[in-house]
Amino acid sequence: MTTNEAAAPGDGTAGPLPFDTSKAHQARIYDYLLGGKDNYAADRAAADAMLELWPDMAFTARANRAFLARAVRYLTAEAGIRQFLDIGTGIPTAGNLHEIAQAIAPETRVVYVDYDPVVLAHARALLDSSEEGATEYIEADLRDTATILDRAASLLDFSKPIAVTMLAILHAMPDADDPHGIVARLMGAVPSGSYLAISHVASDRVDQETHQSIRDSQDGKLQQQYQWRNRDEVGRFFAGLDLVEPGLVLVEEWRPEPGTFSEGMSGAWGAVGRKG
Ligand SMILES: C[S@@+](CC[C@H](N)C(=O)[O-])C[C@H]1O[C@@H](n2cnc3c(N)ncnc32)[C@H](O)[C@@H]1O
Repeated sequence: MTTNEAAAPGDGTAGPLPFDTSKAHQARIYDYLLGGKDNYAADRAAADAMLELWPDMAFTARANRAFLARAVRYLTAEAGIRQFLDIGTGIPTAGNLHEIAQAIAPETRVVYVDYDPVVLAHARALLDSSEEGATEYIEADLRDTATILDRAASLLDFSKPIAVTMLAILHAMPDADDPHGIVARLMGAVPSGSYLAISHVASDRVDQETHQSIRDSQDGKLQQQYQWRNRDEVGRFFAGLDLVEPGLVLVEEWRPEPGTFSEGMSGAWGAVGRKG
């Protein structure tokens, strides 16, 4: 597949997305929700239509980003992780994963993976590693686990624990692409003592009518369709792993920092699990 061909969800193919600003894309919608500037009219229109139906979506994006920071701080400072494989990195923004981890442990190595050409265009911000550590950017589709694992092995030592982080990406993968099988393959490739962190939009946090209206508002306007999942479906990604306290909860409820309080209620589940 060339880089100009689309990887259609569910068709079993995998490859970089085409650069197409006429349709909204989740990396750029997320950037818009976080107040970034790397988005186009189609992204803003799709996000605004969804926000009208689900105003908590903006808080959900911010709460998800804050979960990423707390999970990475936990993994680095408390679990002693020094290697991360971050799939579905998104457009760089304040507090990129390697900056958070290397502020605690400068020797941390981070491999970033995304299939969006806009993320690739900004990848330099992700390669700004500390001198003691290292970062790498791989342009690849999550469905192409063989390529991801092969290329990640040039920076990461797969005989030592690795944290695989997949934050706000799996809802872009329909069941037809077997996302649970993909996560299991990735976790099968890392040794015991490794971790998995996931956040995922929650189908059981909005009523069915709103959920359907959001789907209708997206019809034909997005490069990927969202497949929201409920708490049980998200929990299945952690099969065989031990969930770190407090388990699978709304992202803002996962180890909130003392003295902070939540300004809203998100629609995203989040958890961190350890491979025994
Ligand atoms: C909403 S952003 C999340 C960014 C970051 N992980 C966070 O939580 O703050 C999701 C990212 O996943 C990427 N993505 C979606 N499907 C993907 C796939 N099949 N392969 C690789 N990246 C994918 C998108 O391009 C986008 O940059």
